[in-house]
Amino acid sequence: MAANRRESSPFASSSSGSNADDEGVRGTCEDASVCKRYAVSIGYWHDPYIEHLVRLSKERKAPEINRGYFARVQGVSQLTKAFLRKTECHCQILNLGAGMDTIFWNLKDEDLLPSKYFEVDFPAIVTRKLHNIKNKPALAKPIVELHSEDTLKMDGHMLDSKRYAIIGADLRELPQLEEKLKKCNMNTQLPTLVITECVLVYMTPEQSANLIKWAANSFETAMFINYEQVNMDDRFGQIMIENLWRRQCHLAGVETCKSLESQRERLLSNGWETASVVDMMEVYSRLPQAEVSRIESLEFLDEKELLEQLMHHYCLCWATRGGQDLGLKEIAC
Ligand SMILES: C[S@@+](CC[C@H](N)C(=O)[O-])C[C@H]1O[C@@H](n2cnc3c(N)ncnc32)[C@H](O)[C@@H]1O
Repeated sequence: MAANRRESSPFASSSSGSNADDEGVRGTCEDASVCKRYAVSIGYWHDPYIEHLVRLSKERKAPEINRGYFARVQGVSQLTKAFLRKTECHCQILNLGAGMDTIFWNLKDEDLLPSKYFEVDFPAIVTRKLHNIKNKPALAKPIVELHSEDTLKMDGHMLDSKRYAIIGADLRELPQLEEKLKKCNMNTQLPTLVITECVLVYMTPEQSANLIKWAANSFETAMFINYEQVNMDDRFGQIMIENLWRRQCHLAGVETCKSLESQRERLLSNGWETASVVDMMEVYSRLPQAEVSRIESLEFLDEKELLEQLMHHYCLCWATRGGQDLGLKEIAC
């Protein structure tokens, strides 16, 4: 969440998926997952799986960063669960740019698994995650238990099982992405939730628009959840961009992160019928007050303004298409 963190970064003008700029983008996976692991380790939320995927940072993270991640994880989780309940789990989830995300394992524990859960990230990230899945029983067991056949389809960049698939692909290469998803039995007839949590900003506006359009056109009934930067036109946004530049990270998609309206407009002009966008301060204020009081007692936060400034520069967006009968339009966080 912070202005000087790489996650708020990346870049890449090429779509080859293997250039030097992409290395910076892949590095953001580490940034996000290490921050999540740290927040979990001091009690912000419960996630018994993240320790099997991410090392624990020795470096203390600032309270405003931890609260930011708390709001982000709660916000995405609330919208995801609302979709699962509306569809009674007869649906699929595509988590694009999933990094070391653990949503699949946590949903299984809550008996809220969709018919199938797909994760996509660069092949190098997928290889790393697969290594952990194969070697950590806590991660492997749920996948194997849910899989009725003897053997799982797996290579270095892909695993396909009955309820979970992880695929190495470049989100800017849509024909290959679609082909790989279809090989893993993505079902375009099922209500589908597409999640991009801090991912689109690493693509050019044209590339992210194409991905959003592809998602809208691929499924009759769908919902899109996007979390990323917003209000990047001010001094704070400028500092964030400059810090990232110094670390060879370019926010290729920052133009779309100008305002809540530019975020909403991108969804509406690329095939989505309804779109809502709120900044993370608003998300934070809508979270259950008992939970907020609990996490606020974990660490003392000296300067509230710092938290507000940070939260004002990130947003949660959700959009729907079809699904009138399911009541998808009524979903809100
Ligand atoms: C900031 S991390 C977020 C990870 C995860 N969504 C989370 O919130 O914890 C961004 C992720 O998007 C992935 N990513 C960005 N651009 C991508 C692309 N063109 N193709 C595949 N993955 C991409 C990165 O590799 C990284 O894992």
